Amino acid sequence: MSEQGTTTESQGNKYPPDPELAKTANARPEMLEQGLEEFWDEQAKQRLDWFEPYDKVLEWNIPHAKWFEGGKINACYNCVDRHAEGDKADKVALHVVPDDGPDSSQARDITYAELQRQVVRFANGLKKLGVGKGTGVGIYMQMIPEAVVAMLACARLGAPHTVVFGGFSGKAVAERCNDFEAKVLITQDEALRGGKVGSQKTNADDGLGNDTTVEKVVVVKRTGGDIPMTDRDVYLDDLLEGESDDPSSCPCEPMESEDLLFLLYTSGSTGKPKGVVHTTGGYLTGVTTTTNLVFDMKDDSVYWCAADIGWITGHSYITYGPLANGVTSVLYEGVPGYPDKDVWWKIIEKYGVTILYTSPTAIRSHMKWGEKYAQSADLSSIKILGSVGEPINPEVWEWYREHVGGGKAPIMDTWWQTETGHILITPLPGITTLKPGMAQQPFPGVRPEIRDDEGNVLGTEQTGNLVLTAPWPGMMRTLYKDDQRFRDTYWSKYSDAYFAGDGAKYDADGDIMLMGRIDDVVNVSGHRLSTFEVESALVEHEDVAEAAVASRKDPDTGQAIVAFVSLKGDTQGTEELEQALREQVAQSIGKLARPASVIFAPDLPKTRSGKIMRRLLKNLAEGEELGDTTTLVDPSVVEEMQKQMQQG
Ligand code: WT7
Repeated sequence: MSEQGTTTESQGNKYPPDPELAKTANARPEMLEQGLEEFWDEQAKQRLDWFEPYDKVLEWNIPHAKWFEGGKINACYNCVDRHAEGDKADKVALHVVPDDGPDSSQARDITYAELQRQVVRFANGLKKLGVGKGTGVGIYMQMIPEAVVAMLACARLGAPHTVVFGGFSGKAVAERCNDFEAKVLITQDEALRGGKVGSQKTNADDGLGNDTTVEKVVVVKRTGGDIPMTDRDVYLDDLLEGESDDPSSCPCEPMESEDLLFLLYTSGSTGKPKGVVHTTGGYLTGVTTTTNLVFDMKDDSVYWCAADIGWITGHSYITYGPLANGVTSVLYEGVPGYPDKDVWWKIIEKYGVTILYTSPTAIRSHMKWGEKYAQSADLSSIKILGSVGEPINPEVWEWYREHVGGGKAPIMDTWWQTETGHILITPLPGITTLKPGMAQQPFPGVRPEIRDDEGNVLGTEQTGNLVLTAPWPGMMRTLYKDDQRFRDTYWSKYSDAYFAGDGAKYDADGDIMLMGRIDDVVNVSGHRLSTFEVESALVEHEDVAEAAVASRKDPDTGQAIVAFVSLKGDTQGTEELEQALREQVAQSIGKLARPASVIFAPDLPKTRSGKIMRRLLKNLAEGEELGDTTTLVDPSVVEEMQKQMQQG
């Protein structure tokens, strides 16, 4: 198990809620006392507009939940139309910040009325391509407004989307689109990040080839670069030529509450990526409620979630949650550190950002560069900070509060997963006494427990498995076309609870501390990658006989990938080969998955029954004591690896 989150530095600090904030906070202590169905029912009615009311809050046939059955609803209507047609028409929905920062001439604002026009037109374009209720659409884009518009246009038509992270390879795009049987892929000509132009559409071409379910590729012009276009491709501008932006030309499709809103593929410990199924009414209720209460959204909030649209955080807390709340958000195309290391703080200053939601990895980068950059800007608008993706080390938490939060902004350390759809464990503004490095408390209507392997509920300071003993509205409904895998992965360890795959413990006050993954999943910069996928990418190289992947702690990315590789015949492990293998993984999956180090060995450490001893590789990767190696066929293999690791 990962040791992350167990750091003891600055442990013990407690920050009681600010009484002023407590007075006006949206989250009320009474909510924590409410019954589960009572709470979610109230939220669903109060926060969303239903075309037809639901008859039943919850139907629970473990492991399958149905929320708000009988209700008819549309996500786009709730995120766009009701604001555009109400008193928020002229309110800014998105402050669009391009790659070259907030001072760029391309920086612009999109109001709710304008967003509605763009979404309607986009949806009309998709309709022309035959996209309608139930048509699968792939989206492979960077952080440009068209990505959000594309998601909403799909939702408007009732066409489920699957967004593939823009940094993933074309192969990953093809695998996901074909599995989903997507008919249309929306992408952009080229990527622009950190001042560098990267390929995007040609990646998709390379991955898709001709043997694909994708019949049409819609290309948004971002750079205007010269890229190959075939009969399958159409530029968005051409597609939308003459299309109406009048909402009555393309009304929002009334969807059943349990209709598919999107699939998002995520890594598991074995096999191909899992298509996580999220449906409409429950998911929207979950994201809208958590966005409102965790970040204490007010009419004048200016919110910035610095995640990427390709991850669940981007779905729930860039697109659906904030827009359903009708708030003003920042949408940032770029990367931290470009054009300069102060760009984030300039963005906050320019737009008066009141809420910042980001990852420990990003904060660690800023911390490494030093606080002078944050100090160079006026960050006094900040009221609430959020963290997600991995445990946040207490010293990073303290730095975030001090230098971004003006020494007073509360930090919401939010625990959740692609599968959970929305935040489940988190402090609440004005309610929780904060403890650095802990997600602390279940959100109202959420029922976690920490259990040992036998199913006993654990007391304080005993690390066990985090489970959820009751359903919640945004929970994954199943795995696409693989309900058995859904049952096996999440619902078989305990017959009566969802098994999250994370280790956790309670402290003496009953606050929850997350301790990292307990399966073969590596968390790099807050993103899950399966060791299996990286291993598969490595063995694709002609010189590789076998590969096994483990992780070690990394000061910047949380965890880093260490690859153990045995080579075919008498191929020698050279520096060039190491580079080639790292590149191979980057090409095959994406740069995020590139191993930090590659260790060559004549063989991998195996037991007599031929199983790779993963625990040992983990110890090796972390530079820890190895303990008993007598069950190995050939203990000298490990000594050889150790020697190499010491040589650096
Ligand atoms: C895994 C889920 C949730 C959106 C981003 C990642 C880890 C997430 C925290 C946190 C400790 C966290 C868990 C979880 N994780 N947030 N606040 N404290 N660990 O989504 O790729 O589905 O990964 O991220 O290990 O299981 P994901």
